[in-house]
Amino acid sequence: MLQSTKMGQSFGEQFHLALALLLMNLGSALTEDAPPSCYGIPGLPGMPGVPGRDGRDGLKGAKGEPGLPATPASRGPKGMKGEPGSPGLPGKTGPIGPPGPPGDPGMMGMAGEPGMPGSYKQKHQSAFSVTRQTSEHPLKNVPLVFNHVITNTNHDYNTTTGKFTCKIPGLYYFVFHSSQTANLCVILYKNEIKMASFCDHKTNTMQVSSGGILLRLGAGNQVWLAVNDYNGMVGISNSDSIFSGFLLFPD
Ligand SMILES: *[C@@H]1O[C@H](CO)[C@@H](O)[C@H](O)[C@H]1NC(C)=O
Repeated sequence: MLQSTKMGQSFGEQFHLALALLLMNLGSALTEDAPPSCYGIPGLPGMPGVPGRDGRDGLKGAKGEPGLPATPASRGPKGMKGEPGSPGLPGKTGPIGPPGPPGDPGMMGMAGEPGMPGSYKQKHQSAFSVTRQTSEHPLKNVPLVFNHVITNTNHDYNTTTGKFTCKIPGLYYFVFHSSQTANLCVILYKNEIKMASFCDHKTNTMQVSSGGILLRLGAGNQVWLAVNDYNGMVGISNSDSIFSGFLLFPD
């Protein structure tokens, strides 16, 4: 009863009041009217009953005063996550990426204009004309040496050995015209192989024999002339002996 409620206080007050009234009546009964002896003294009041249950909820109260305006310091709790916003404007252009792989080869182009005349003239030249200037008959079965040069591009004909050495592969023409004072056989060799023989018996005081041949040569092939026992070749004034050769078609 220390933590007295409103109801408890009311109950306590009633209890004291009832006790006071009882004592008053008792006094009066003892002093004034003599009570009938057949009745006993009234008993003491019973103990208070247990508190009743809570009452029903009261009516809803009136709406309160508006609250103070919020200040930044008195910000409320964080709200729920909002809906996603609309997409923004496109961003700025990014940096240039790495180069891609090479593409497929393109179409073949048109044929170009014919070029300028090339180095054919300078490089693909071979021609010689050499004469044998002596009245002596040559030795037999050895290269016939023509010792005087009229034409000899790139020194293809060697006036020491009497041999032509091919530098440019191709088709060559060789020809000789020899003045003779005796019977004469001229043999044309290509690398120790007899390719042609031209023999003339002397029937005039002075006569000329000749012969020509087309040969396909590879680089390094050698061509020369020789005589056999019939060696009446001379090279004297007004009676030349001349050996010529030239490249007709390079390979
Ligand atoms: C001709 O041949 C000789 C002997 O093989 C050589 O010594 C000489 O250099 C050659 N001459 C030329 C112009 O090639």
